[in-house]
This record gives sequence, structure tokens and C-alpha cells, in this order.
Amino acid sequence: MKNFKKTGVILVTMAVAFGVLAGAVAYAAENAKDVVNYRKSVMKAQSAHLKAIKAIVRGKVGYTGLLGNHAKALDLTGKGLTDLFPAGTGPDKIKSRAKADIWKDWKKFEASAKKLNVETAKLVKIANGGDKKAVADQFKVVGKACGGCHKPFRAKKKKKK
Ligand code: HEC
Repeated sequence: MKNFKKTGVILVTMAVAFGVLAGAVAYAAENAKDVVNYRKSVMKAQSAHLKAIKAIVRGKVGYTGLLGNHAKALDLTGKGLTDLFPAGTGPDKIKSRAKADIWKDWKKFEASAKKLNVETAKLVKIANGGDKKAVADQFKVVGKACGGCHKPFRAKKKKKK
């Protein structure tokens, strides 16, 4: 009986290990190019919401009622940013603006992503509060959080010939 239990534990452990492995294999099967395109789409979505917020807080348009939605969208699309940079999607493998330093200094990269999450969560709260000046101030902080990652980890755009 004792042995049987032990075998059970081993079987379960093996099943879990296999599950993890299968997951990793499924992930590796993803095309690096598709991952890069996907992360660019997510980044562009972030940028679009940030621009929409900018237009509202600068008073270019009057859609103040939508501030909360844009802030929420920005917050949600910023979740799991680091997952968009799996191993094998660096500049040694595929053309993109992601610098090799991301994987060399993963902790710092993670911290930059976390910083954005903290600041966009604050933006959501403030945007729902309705104080436009406070939203404008936090908007700047969020913009800096984007830059806080781009500066060390995103390569400069190559000039089009
Ligand atoms: C944790 C790091 C990090 C944060 C935070 C971050 N980005 Fe990025 N972003 C990157 C990296 C790295 C790239 C280059 C990706 C590539 O070329 O594969 C990028 C690329 C981009 C691009 C170019 C996409 C393209 O089509 O080439 C835009 C636009 C962008 N980010 C906007 C934003 C905005 C707006 C924010 C803040 C709301 C933000 N990013 C926050 C790391 C970050």
C-alpha cells in the first residue's frame, strides 16, 4: 500500500512535469516573427490609448467621459508585458527593436514593466475621479514609465532609406 502511494506520487509528479514540458514545447512552436508582431500590436494599442488620453487632457477634444475607459485599456494591455518577450525573440534571433539587454538584465526589465502597471493602475483611479488636472499629471508619469523601459531596452528606430 505504501509503495502504491509512492508510485502514485511519482506518477502525478511526472504528469505535472510532462504538462509543463508540453506547455513549453507548445510555446516554442510559436513563430518568433508572430510573437514580435503580436507584441508590436500590443505596444501600438498602448500608444493609441495614451494618445487618446493626451488629446482629452490637453482639451483638444471633449470626450472626458471616455478617460476612464482609455485608462483601463492602457492598464489591461500593460499586464503581462514581460510575457511578450520570451527567449528566442531577441536581436540575435530575429529583427526587432528589442535590445539584447532585456534578457541580460531581466530583473530590471521586469521592474520597468511593473512600474508601468503601478502607474496605469493609479491612472485608472484618478481618471474615474474626474479631476482633469490630476489626470494630466498622472498621464505624464505614465508616459515616463513607458520611456523608462524604452530608453534602456528599445533600440533606436533605423532611418528609412
Ligand atoms: C517593460 C518595457 C516596456 C514598457 C513598460 C513599454 N514598452 Fe513599448 N516597447 C518595448 C520594447 C522592448 C519595444 C520594442 C519591441 C520590438 O521591436 O520587438 C517596444 C515598442 C513599442 C512601440 C513600437 C511598436 C512597433 O510597431 O514597432 C510603441 C509604439 C510602444 N512600445 C509604446 C509603448 C507605450 C505607449 C508604453 C507605455 C504605455 C510602452 N510602450 C511601455 C518595451 C516597453
